[in-house]
This record gives sequence, C-alpha cells and structure tokens, in this order.
Amino acid sequence: MDQNQLKRLAGEAALTHVRDGMVLGVGTGSTVNCFIDALAESGLQLEAAVSSSEATTERLKSIGVTVSDLNNAGTLELYVDGADEVDAHKRMIKGGGGALTREKIIAAASRRFICIVDHTKVVDVLGRFPLPVEVIPMARSYVARQLVSLGGQPELREGFETDNGNLILDVHNLSITDPVALEQEINALAGVVTVGLFARRGADLVIEAQGSGVRDW
Ligand code: A5P
Repeated sequence: MDQNQLKRLAGEAALTHVRDGMVLGVGTGSTVNCFIDALAESGLQLEAAVSSSEATTERLKSIGVTVSDLNNAGTLELYVDGADEVDAHKRMIKGGGGALTREKIIAAASRRFICIVDHTKVVDVLGRFPLPVEVIPMARSYVARQLVSLGGQPELREGFETDNGNLILDVHNLSITDPVALEQEINALAGVVTVGLFARRGADLVIEAQGSGVRDW
C-alpha cells in the first residue's frame, strides 16, 4: 500500500467516531483531505464543522458542510486532524501545512482529539521533522536568534504567509527530550504566536494506518 492509500485508510477509520448532527472540528493537510473525502461519501450529516484553515474551509464547503466560527460553536465534542510526527505519548509535531495556530486553538477547545496518521509519522523521539514556529513578522530575527540559543537551526519558510498573516520558522536539529518544557519555553518568547509542538494537549486517540490495516492507540 502506498502512503496515499494509508492516509485514505486512516481517514476512513476516523469516520466511525463521527455522528450525525455533530459540530466537528476539522484539521488541515493531505490526511485530513482524505478524511473529508470519506465524509462526503459516507452520507453522514454534520450540523456544522469548525475549520482550522482556509484550505479546509474551502474543501468542507465544496462537499456541502456548513462551516461555523469557533466563537459560536462552544466546546467541540471531537476534533480530527493529522500530524507530522507523533510519539508513543500521543504528543505531536504539527504545522507542516502552516495551520498550527488555528489547529492548536481547536484542539484546546475540543473534548477529544483524534490524530490520523500513516505509520511513517510515528516516532520514538520528536524532532526529526523540522519544528514549525509561527511568528509575528517583526519578531522574525529576534525569535530566530532565541531558537539558535536553544540549539536549533531556524529556517524561514520562504514565500509563505499563514492564514493569520504571519511567518513560519522551521527549526531543524532540535533535540526534543522534554516536549512539554520546550513547548512552554518557545511559546513564552516574545513574538511567537504558536509553536507546532502539541505536547501539553496531545491527542486522545491515534489512528495509525499500516500495511496490515489500522491500529488505534
Ligand atoms: C497542518 O498545519 C499540519 O499540522 C498537518 O496536520 C500536518 O502537516 C499533517 O499533514 P499531512 O496529513 O499532509 O501529512
């Protein structure tokens, strides 16, 4: 099975947690796109969705799902999203698609977070995938210097602007031995909007697609 088929498998498996009439939080990325395609084919009728990006909003609307503002939705029962890396404690690196801030907000506002991944995303230690950090444009250089002092090698994501009008620094070669502490440390830097470490609030369930099928853990 190739990676796209595995993403499709993970997306389909998440549907078993979705109920008619739900207001569902929906993440961003190619795995989530597979989930949205499967949702369209399922016949499930959501009351609405809360979306983590303009790209997801467009895709949801194209299949006839009403997209609500989180401010009007209250606490969400369920959020479904992908990840760039996930460890055995269900802590994640996210933001490869640049939607990390809205993703983190929706994750925080949801009772359950189901992470859908193919097996290539599961790691022993987080950090092989460069850690995305969303920064206010004027803080770019300052934050980059601070990230260097933490041992990382930040690289500006060229030609990219987030849905919030900010920039992304992708931080290479960080040794993430304590994800919760690093999340707090980077979040506390002036000018950082969000760091793509999802450790304090990780996933509640991981749906991992492998060649042999789907494993929930
Ligand atoms: C989007 O900003 C990310 O957090 C995605 O959840 C992550 O990049 C996974 O994307 P893929 O499913 O495309 O790998």
